[in-house]
Amino acid sequence: MESTNRILELLYDRRGGYFSLEELAAAVGLGRSSLLRRLNMLTEAGLDIENSPAEGVRLIRRGRLIGHLIERDLPTSRIGRSVVCYGEVDSTNDIAFDAARSGKTDGLVVLAESQRKGRGRQGNKWLDEPGMNIACSILLINDSGNLAHEPLTIAAGLAVSQAIDQCCGLQSELKWPNDVLIDGEKVSGVLIELRKTSRAAVVLGIGINVNSAPPSDQVDRPATSLAAQTGQPVERIEIIRTLLVRLDYWVSKIIHGELDELRQEWVSRCPMINQRITVASGGDEYVGRVLDISPLEGIVLIGDDGRQVRLPAAGASIVNSA
Ligand code: BTN
Repeated sequence: MESTNRILELLYDRRGGYFSLEELAAAVGLGRSSLLRRLNMLTEAGLDIENSPAEGVRLIRRGRLIGHLIERDLPTSRIGRSVVCYGEVDSTNDIAFDAARSGKTDGLVVLAESQRKGRGRQGNKWLDEPGMNIACSILLINDSGNLAHEPLTIAAGLAVSQAIDQCCGLQSELKWPNDVLIDGEKVSGVLIELRKTSRAAVVLGIGINVNSAPPSDQVDRPATSLAAQTGQPVERIEIIRTLLVRLDYWVSKIIHGELDELRQEWVSRCPMINQRITVASGGDEYVGRVLDISPLEGIVLIGDDGRQVRLPAAGASIVNSA
């Protein structure tokens, strides 16, 4: 393994604790001056490494995202074999589509510390404070056409919700089609985009308010962050890794047409079942009680006249809970 990656792993695994230079050099199998050269290279590349003569060397835990620490030993079959981390970009979804055009791999994960033009669903903007949150895009090549939009849409929200609960000990909820809420406030949203490059590319764009939520005057509904909910700063790498593992699992279920568990897990996190809601879809509004979430057909409503309607996620949104 490259020694710089080994240095990063050792520093990260010490969870913000210090190494003496001698201890670190011995652990990596380098001399002191080679180690110092590599530490300088890492610092120049923008990584938050502290080297204090009194205390030693450490990696600031809430510093920049590091692709190698996300990829390493990731137990996935498809997603996250390659992870790239940027500083500022227009939109991570655009970077993922550019990668698809230049023949980059299926399962690529693109992360950025900040986005100039983050996009949300329904033409909304997605705002976040630089360096605080997760802006993540996952590229899936769908040449075989077995990754349908509808199940992917709910799988992405579910994977986020599971990662948040597992890593932060919270109980998040899902709002169809793929918002993640805590106590009714939005903590994450997903934008799925499809483009036909030379190949059929699907990009799952996921935004999570980890350490900061947008100010209330800049969003149309209450937002929260994981830090606000847990009462402490939250480290991003573990959440991203857990999210990728969960998503990889659901993607493989979708490919094999095994959708029952996806539906059950989704519904168990969705407080809207049985609630009367209004859904805007295709220029019309539908009012009804939520009967089910179907991984293939979308939300299932039963109207006052007893008739059922199934509304796919694309272009649909819940207007209100009546
Ligand atoms: C929504 O709730 O409206 C969806 C928000 C999706 C935001 C993410 S952040 C990463 C990716 N890049 C974007 O430009 N948008 C998505």
